[in-house]
Amino acid sequence: MSESDSPRKSRDTLRSARWYLANDMRAFAHRQRTQQMGFRRKDFMGRPVVAVVNTWSELSPCHIHLRDRAEAVKRGVWAAGGMPVELPALSLGEVIVKPTTMMYRNMLAMETEELLRSHPVDGAVLLGGCDKTTPALIMGALSMDLPAIYVPAGAMSNARWRGQKVGAGTHTRKFWDEMRAGKITPEDWVELESRMTRTIGTCNTMGTASTMTALAEVIGLTLPGASSIPASDSGHPRMCQDAGERIVGMIFEDLRPSRIVTRAAISNAIVALMAMGGSTNAVIHLVAIARRAGLDLDLDAFDREGRRTPVLANIFPAGDNLMEDFYFAGGLPALLSRLVDRLDLACPTVNGRTLGENIAGARVWEEDVIRPLGRPVSAGAPIAILRGNISPDGAVIKASAADPRLARHRGRAVVFRDHADMTARIDDPALPVDADSILVLQNAGPVGGPGMPEWGALPIPKKLLAQGVRDMVRISDARMSGTHYGTCVLHVAPESHVGGPLAFVRDGDFIELDVERRRLHLDVDGDEIARRRAAWKPPAPRYARGYASLVERHIGQANLGADFDFLTAGAPIPEPDIY
Ligand code: FES
Repeated sequence: MSESDSPRKSRDTLRSARWYLANDMRAFAHRQRTQQMGFRRKDFMGRPVVAVVNTWSELSPCHIHLRDRAEAVKRGVWAAGGMPVELPALSLGEVIVKPTTMMYRNMLAMETEELLRSHPVDGAVLLGGCDKTTPALIMGALSMDLPAIYVPAGAMSNARWRGQKVGAGTHTRKFWDEMRAGKITPEDWVELESRMTRTIGTCNTMGTASTMTALAEVIGLTLPGASSIPASDSGHPRMCQDAGERIVGMIFEDLRPSRIVTRAAISNAIVALMAMGGSTNAVIHLVAIARRAGLDLDLDAFDREGRRTPVLANIFPAGDNLMEDFYFAGGLPALLSRLVDRLDLACPTVNGRTLGENIAGARVWEEDVIRPLGRPVSAGAPIAILRGNISPDGAVIKASAADPRLARHRGRAVVFRDHADMTARIDDPALPVDADSILVLQNAGPVGGPGMPEWGALPIPKKLLAQGVRDMVRISDARMSGTHYGTCVLHVAPESHVGGPLAFVRDGDFIELDVERRRLHLDVDGDEIARRRAAWKPPAPRYARGYASLVERHIGQANLGADFDFLTAGAPIPEPDIY
């Protein structure tokens, strides 16, 4: 970015000057109340005020170190001549928050936007990492569009159990199935509780957290290399301090997210998503981020990239290493160095340099962890978009984490009308299911869930586990944890709860899946489907009040990013009056 592209701010034109530099009674009160907290008048008069938006909480295990990291950020801000103020934000600890953190992604996005709008701040450092926090913070920052830099929490360190690498999420599901099949004991299961997630940080597999923090870096919203630094590495607080130092420069340069999150940057993120074997959740989040930036992003963009860019990162669940291995192999800059022909290297990033400048000189140190294009982890599409009479607006499958034998499959549907129905019947010995059946879950989408929980990797029925079955075709309008695996068709749109065709699938119907042809087909006569549609009645609204009611009325479909309609459209919101 050249100097001439950079509209510079002066101390008098800082946003916070509207609160602090005026000569009236209100400005007196702002200065008075800030000094009441122990700050000196010179600390905020004409200095850039930096919001350190912190998603720390004591029920967010992936973020438990973010209080300390906020202090590191503040050291950087002070050193660069700014004034940091920590603003707590909703903490979305995946696994612990129910019914699903996805239901609250838009709430955190809205909170981030309004925190920045309503306070006397000139820019922000955003601290997050656990799954939904990354897209939420970015979406909110984009909508407010103050200079912002994203600081990823970092992944937890490697773990081993009885000689084998074990990854958060991925091995929880594997060992759960092994215990239900009688291959490990209940005592083993208890022992695993304390062995698999042994340090601070986000999941150490290529789940949604690792995917989204990496994509934030590819888009240009983190310092170079930031997303690959393990949470417990001493480089992590140093990176935080650097981010605090850098945001002050970004404020004077007026380097806003809208100048960074461009169509080219989003396209770069899609390339990286494929090469990382990243989470299917990233499809929804990238669409939502793009739409906040005013860009339409069609699911076909993912499918096109999936056809040409294979998985290179040999990380669970698509591969067999962990995020710490990825870091030692060179991390994200090294991976991107293998993709330079597919990336727009001229994209600007938060450090004022281009993506190309940031990854120049990056090298891969372990060829088996970050594979060359000629020797990918899997040859098929990392993520594919399926269409057909079940999913006219698209469905998503992570082909790289599915059993290739099932990529082309025809089977009879076993239908569960919702998650409670599935939980009640999945292990019933009388369930009419065999290894060729296709498990269908309805009413688990953005409205139906509500919030589209990660129910898409339906458990294999116990009686089939005992027969050695470890994968089956599963179809739902839900999502799947990025750490999970299996032949799971996800995000079916439109969802069944609003009358999408998934609602009309019945027990015993034949369904055809053909990943190569990107086809998902309900093999039922069109007239019969029309009869079922005519007989279908929309479910009554379930929530009369509260946030769930807001979700039910305003959340969009998965192919549109599952954002709220009132956050993606309409005129810009004016700056608040200061009075
Ligand atoms: Fe937080 Fe997986 S539970 S990243």
